[in-house]
Amino acid sequence: PFGWYREMRENAPVRYDPGRNSWDVFRYADVKRILDDDSTFSVDPSKATDFVEPEGQGAGLILDTMLFEDPPRHDELRGVVEDSFRPRAIRELEPRIRELTREILDDTLEGEGEMDLVSEFAYPLPVVVIAELLGVPVEDRDRFKEWSDAIVSSASDGEGGEEFAERQQEVQREMGFYFLQLIEERRENPQDDLISTIATAEIDGEPLPREEVLGTCMLLLVAGNITTTNLITNAVRCFGENDLFGTYTDAGAVPRSAIEETLRYRAPVQAMTRIATEEVTMNGETIGAGERVIVWMGSANRDGRQFPDGDSFVPDRSPNQHLGFGHGTHYCLGAPLARLEAEVALSELFDRLTDVELVGTDLEPTRSSFIYGVESLPLEYAT
Ligand code: HEM
Repeated sequence: PFGWYREMRENAPVRYDPGRNSWDVFRYADVKRILDDDSTFSVDPSKATDFVEPEGQGAGLILDTMLFEDPPRHDELRGVVEDSFRPRAIRELEPRIRELTREILDDTLEGEGEMDLVSEFAYPLPVVVIAELLGVPVEDRDRFKEWSDAIVSSASDGEGGEEFAERQQEVQREMGFYFLQLIEERRENPQDDLISTIATAEIDGEPLPREEVLGTCMLLLVAGNITTTNLITNAVRCFGENDLFGTYTDAGAVPRSAIEETLRYRAPVQAMTRIATEEVTMNGETIGAGERVIVWMGSANRDGRQFPDGDSFVPDRSPNQHLGFGHGTHYCLGAPLARLEAEVALSELFDRLTDVELVGTDLEPTRSSFIYGVESLPLEYAT
């Protein structure tokens, strides 16, 4: 998409797309301004003039969460789990994340050979980590992973249509049912895990409604998985394309700045949606109240007005105020966790490898909309 972004930043930085019936915004300053102004640009899809209520039980589950609520409700819902995701709380998880990473690498790497980085490493890690944080019992992990797989694969098979919707609903139902049981259990008998935190939370002395408890659990699962998978994968792809493999295998580690640069250069989330709550003029274009705006942070991240040489991958770039985790009120709650997972995963990987090469030609893009990555990334390696 990057050539298209460049053209749009120069020629049509704010434009209406009749096909999608929405606006597109491409420049860094405009994207940031929108994300900074959550009263003019709402995350609540029901504020759109063409909003249609999602159908079917559970279809709107994720809509009942902080991601799609404006303040003040947003702040209350985010407050329930905010402390658990602060950098200090997350740092304590490092030894355990390292252990989980090593277990996966022990199972995956042989002396030398070929591997698919996505299915064998970058995908399983975030699923195991979030299952553990939520407090999904060890004996249910396989079932839990199957549901996650189903949610990801049916979203990315991209077949659309009825079959897709049915499968999606079935998985959501099964998973929802499973979570509800666990939630009841933890309400009675709280443990030191996220499900207990959410299940026993009170806002103004009232427990959270069931839909919001369930929605929050599902959100944490869905928001953190393919995104972190793609961060790890996109990083390795960037390193390979920029001849950095030797540097990192020699060092046995990957610097944080290279992960930040991946979040800028190949951001796992390329765009987000907002709804204008009132008429607003940007770059001479008038966006009407109730109209949808697609905010292209993947384009903002390449904008030469903000980033010198924006279309080059510069692993020690500084400063690097990328928008890979968003900005403002909805700035990614999981950012400290995603950063830690990526740093541990990549450093453990390069610590073991003595030689590695990208061998895929014709990489297939991830099919989920707004998510950017590849379906698989074949590597040849030696340990
Ligand atoms: C929000 C990206 C990992 C949980 C967001 C947003 C972005 C983002 C761009 C803002 C959405 C918006 O403004 O509409 C990413 C990327 C990740 C990642 C690129 C990995 C590399 C995670 C993880 C978790 C998580 C690991 C939790 C386990 C959330 C939540 C929100 C959010 C709960 C909503 C925050 C709010 O509305 O206040 N993420 N995310 N994310 N993310 Fe992440």
